[in-house]
Amino acid sequence: MSTSASGYIVLLGAPGAGKGTQAERLEKDIELPHIATGDLFRAALKQQTELGKLAQSYMDRGVLVPDDVTIAMVKERFGQADASRGAILDGFPRTVEQAVALDSILAERGAGVTIAPYIKVSTDTLLARLAGRWVCRGCGAVYHMLYSPPAREGVCDSCGGELYQRSDDTPETHLKRIQVYLEETAPLIEFYRDRGLLAEVDGEQDIEGVYADLLRLVRGATQSSS
Ligand code: AP5
Ligand code: MG
Ligand code: ZN
Repeated sequence: MSTSASGYIVLLGAPGAGKGTQAERLEKDIELPHIATGDLFRAALKQQTELGKLAQSYMDRGVLVPDDVTIAMVKERFGQADASRGAILDGFPRTVEQAVALDSILAERGAGVTIAPYIKVSTDTLLARLAGRWVCRGCGAVYHMLYSPPAREGVCDSCGGELYQRSDDTPETHLKRIQVYLEETAPLIEFYRDRGLLAEVDGEQDIEGVYADLLRLVRGATQSSS
């Protein structure tokens, strides 16, 4: 059963924690759009736009795209009608500057962040998850060759699209992204804890276990409006 909700949900967690995996499920159950800045940059790159080419030079090195570029892109995405009731934010904000910008974007519409679930995972687990990840070229669905394999190797269960490995999924880039996360993004855990919005989830559980905890927290925080 799906329940429509309203509110802005900020998914926190390191690269490979499972933000995208969980957001895919949440989007179907609570009927709020999944806005992932990494996916927006990859879509821009596929279209070969200036934004996409600029972002690629940062993504391939495992470092963050500059805040001004990222914030402008998110503002534009928020301008679309589907985000008027709320959104599931995945990979944004990623710096304190982005979190402050998000607060002011939401304040303009009389809203604020509703909850910031933090999917907590050890570094060993992150590396194992990132190493086995495959993504659908068609619909963006996320698989893992051991933990969440598709029914047919190399083929997406949902849309029949081809599965590929992201160009930033190399062992060197994984370590760099985790380091950048610890330096620039981990401070957001305290940022949201201080505001009473943080909700920790044990991310070491299997996908369904994490999802059960996450859905309970999110349902508790977002008002049901169906
Ligand atoms: P982005 O695309 O956001 O990548 P990321 O943050 O590094 O996170 P990932 O997508 O790697 O991990 P995830 O948590 O979504 O895990 P997933 O669900 O796939 O960003 C990429 C780049 O874009 C950045 O490096 C930066 O350059 C740029 N960028 C993006 N946003 C930006 C911003 N705001 N500012 C500046 N730059 C920005 O799961 C991983 C794997 O594990 C999958 O195979 C999955 O099947 C498996 N898995 C998931 N959960 C479980 C589980 N519970 N048990 C077992 N396996 C699991
Ligand atoms: Mg992701
Ligand atoms: Zn697909």
